[in-house]
Amino acid sequence: MGIERTLGIIKPDAVAKNFTDKILAQIEGNGLQIIASKMMRLSKEEAEKFYSEHVERSFYKPLVDYMTSGPVMIKIFEGENAITSLRNIMGATIPSEAKEGTIRNLYANFEAINGTYQNAIHGSDSKESAEKEINFFFSKNEINKRIR
Ligand code: RTP
Ligand code: MG
Repeated sequence: MGIERTLGIIKPDAVAKNFTDKILAQIEGNGLQIIASKMMRLSKEEAEKFYSEHVERSFYKPLVDYMTSGPVMIKIFEGENAITSLRNIMGATIPSEAKEGTIRNLYANFEAINGTYQNAIHGSDSKESAEKEINFFFSKNEINKRIR
């Protein structure tokens, strides 16, 4: 535990619906701070590599299509127990199973679309993934110390 860093991605569906500010407010309101930020449209190769753990799953291609369907907002969040904390704020993968008030409960589509859940946000699921995913998108000089 202690102070951790985690990678969050506001996915194309939520960016398209202009939910970015609401989602960030919820995360910041729960004690996490943004220390790096970028907006970009993932290439097919980037999305495939980022989600390569799922390469054998039936939802892999639909997931890559979804994640490349528009721009995303990529953030590093820092704070106490940040990895688990963000996952709790996000809610369960399947939006209809996400607890009331979580980001996926509030802002995701409850029905799968084209073979995948469009569930508004990604968050790293372990210390190892967080480190790997942060390095995937950010170089050291893009990460900012919060001095005030
Ligand atoms: P994420 O990596 O995006 O934070 O999501 P997660 O850990 O909650 O879920 P994961 O198992 O890693 O799945 C990655 C993303 O694939 C889509 N998905 N669709 N049965 C399905 O149609 C299905 N299962 C997963 C979702 O967009 C999920 O977030
Ligand atoms: Mg995951």
